[in-house]
Parts: sequence; C-alpha cells; structure tokens
Amino acid sequence: MQETPFKSIKKTVSSLIPSELVHHLPSKWEKIGSVVIIKLPEELSRYKEIIGKVYAEGLGCTTTLNEKGGISGVYRTPVVEVIFGSHQTETIHTENGIRFKVDPQQIMFSSGNMAERRRMATISDPNETVVDLFAGIGYFTLPIAIYSKPKKIVACEINPVAFDYLCANVVLNHASSIVEPRFGDNREIAPKDCADRVVLGYLQDPQGFLPVAFACLKNHTGILHYHELVPFELIPQQPLSHIEQVARCFDRCVELLKVNEIKSYAPRVNHMVLDVRISK
Ligand SMILES: C[S@@+](CC[C@H](N)C(=O)[O-])C[C@H]1O[C@@H](n2cnc3c(N)ncnc32)[C@H](O)[C@@H]1O
Repeated sequence: MQETPFKSIKKTVSSLIPSELVHHLPSKWEKIGSVVIIKLPEELSRYKEIIGKVYAEGLGCTTTLNEKGGISGVYRTPVVEVIFGSHQTETIHTENGIRFKVDPQQIMFSSGNMAERRRMATISDPNETVVDLFAGIGYFTLPIAIYSKPKKIVACEINPVAFDYLCANVVLNHASSIVEPRFGDNREIAPKDCADRVVLGYLQDPQGFLPVAFACLKNHTGILHYHELVPFELIPQQPLSHIEQVARCFDRCVELLKVNEIKSYAPRVNHMVLDVRISK
C-alpha cells in the first residue's frame, strides 16, 4: 500500500530533528496552488527551515508558510512567515474548474469553505441579479458566475489587495460579462433595490450588515445567504432571530430554506450559513 504524504514527511523529518519532537509535526496543512501552509508549535521553531523544506518537497510545493497567528482585521489578513522557498508567493489555485490567483501571504483562502464554494456554484440562474457583499478574491462570486450564469453579479470588496485579485480572477475565468467588481465599503457602494439574491460571507458582526443586504434586495424581497458563528445550542435560532429583527424593520417575512454547517470554528461553535427567503 502507498504511504500517505504525512507518513513519508514524518519519516524524512525523523532523521533531521530529535526523535522526541517528531510527534509535534502537524498532520494537516493548507495547500494553495504551489504554496503549503503549516502551523508549527513552538517546540519545532528551531527546526522550521528544514521542516518547511520537507513539507514543500513532500507535497510538490515551492514555498512553505508557517501560520503564526489567525486571520486578522477587517481585511481578514493571514499572519504567516516564509520558512522555506521563494518569498514571491503569488500562485494560482485551481478548485472546481475555477482558477483563483492569490498571494497566501496577503490573502486568506480557507479549504474548510470548499463545500460552500461548490454549493454556491449551483444556487443561481440566468434570470437573477446577485450581490456578493464580501467578495474577497471571488470565492463565491466566481463559482456563481461560471456555473449558474446569472444576469449579473455585483461583487463588493474593501481590501485593495483582494480587490486587485478579484478583478484579475474575473478576467482569468472569462467572467467579465457577468461580474461587476466594486471597490469600497459595501455600506457605501453596494447597489440598491436590484438583487434577487445576496451573499453575506463575513463573520465579524455579520448582523450589522443585514440592513445593507435588505437594501440591495429588489423591493426588499429575495434570498439571503447569511453566515454567522453560532454556538451549538443556538443553531439556527440565533442567526434566524438576527434576520427576523431586521426583517421587521422592513416589514418583511422570513422563511428558513436551509441551515448549512460550513465548519467547526471553536469548541461547540460552528460557522453556519442560513438560506432564507425574504418576502412581503
Ligand atoms: C475573506 S472574505 C470571507 C471568506 C469567504 N467568504 C470564504 O469563503 O473564504 C471577507 C472579505 O470581506 C471583505 N470586507 C470586510 N468588510 C467589508 C465591507 N464593509 N465592504 C466590503 N468588503 C468587506 C474583506 O476585505 C474580505 O476580503
């Protein structure tokens, strides 16, 4: 039987670092194009360059990044360091037939959201106008544009680096006739009274952006894909009540269509997305 990549990485590293440290090697990683991201514990920091080399070579990558912190700030910037290979880390990551140009040193790309990116590919249709309020580099915008082919998607993004990648990725995937990237704070630049569907893929104070989403919807009616971090015992009541509060201000009703778990975020807290229909 063939060895798993981690088994062979572990075997190679075992001959290079003290044996009592081998069990600290991370068994998981993020592979984004030609860049691999690992999270080394403090115990291995003395050996990070050699470990980085083994992971890169074992996984067919040119650079290894070590994740030093989480994802920070409004722009969701990763805190990472290059521990092996080229410091020029711009790469092309292909997923579900879509090419995402991205620099993982500057921009997050979460493999944990892959199932949701695939799900988004099929949710729209050629009659719809869609607004993606937090487009990033096109995580949801591109699958929707390429596979659902709506009339139009307005993709809002506030981070200039992510916005440049969004524009590049729209061209790279031949989606310019469908996607209109808009640079700035969605509270100022999102289009009003035109959308059949709005995607809210952002986890910092997401309920604060619900009024923006309602304003995007045509006649304040349509579908929302609303992301939130939710403690187990409050699924789906907490996010649903946040949507209902805002719906009341617009004199609208909320119908829960789907409750979808994206990933575990913390002990007993999940990243969830609710699909809801807002109607009169
Ligand atoms: C990183 S994405 C979220 C992850 C993505 N949904 C996924 O599946 O991986 C969130 C994006 O929203 C952008 N953003 C945050 N606040 C914003 C605002 N007020 N207006 C427009 N974009 C915003 C951030 O810069 C970031 O690129």
